[in-house]
Amino acid sequence: METASDRIVVALDGPAGVGKSTVAMAIARELSLTYVETGAIYRAVAYKARNEGIPLDDLTGVAGIARTIDITFRVEGDLNRVFLDGQDVTFALRSQDVSPLASKVSAQAGVRAALLDVQRSLARSGRGAVAEGRDIGTVVFPDAPFKFFLTADVRTRALRRFHQLEEMGRRPVLAELEDEIAARDRQDTERAVAPLKAAPDAVILDTSRLTAAQVIQAILERIRTACAG
Ligand code: DC
Repeated sequence: METASDRIVVALDGPAGVGKSTVAMAIARELSLTYVETGAIYRAVAYKARNEGIPLDDLTGVAGIARTIDITFRVEGDLNRVFLDGQDVTFALRSQDVSPLASKVSAQAGVRAALLDVQRSLARSGRGAVAEGRDIGTVVFPDAPFKFFLTADVRTRALRRFHQLEEMGRRPVLAELEDEIAARDRQDTERAVAPLKAAPDAVILDTSRLTAAQVIQAILERIRTACAG
């Protein structure tokens, strides 16, 4: 199995809407590491399958998309731009109708197996990476020297998503976001393959009462202390 043992890998896992992206991007910037948003890869598979008219229950067809996915990232300020087959799909992938589809394809063993290499090769560039997702510390990079698992209650996560969407000019409904997050939690934690869970050696941070800046600070302190020691 390939790991990035010669590079720094920071694994950042947690449920939907917990603020992983904000935190992961800041850590990557601060430590000059590559930021790998693995959720965007699952979203891209679902999005492409839908656009190509491949039903999500066609396991072979969807796994084929995952195996050949051409995805790249480019961080611009606070935005992680995502390019699928060279096209900017940043906002399309985050739309509310893609989220449940992504959760569905992410439960497929063939998709997860195909995306292991994709995720590992994205993290291979430069000095290493901050990879965020659901199974980074448990499956994708089980040997990562730094593993963090962020949690927060459903209400707090829905409110965070609400503000994010408002900033993007949308008019979200809070109760709908809460339902959607709770449903995705269920799907992500109950699936048979690589369910959402903290690695036994991950540091668990409940962020419900912390600002993003405090979470970033706490993580950076742990990494810097470990690197200095
Ligand atoms: O982080 P996100 O909301 O963009 O992720 C979209 C979906 O992909 C989510 O339902 C869980 C799934 N996912 C996963 O199963 N494993 C990962 N490493 C990342 C995301």
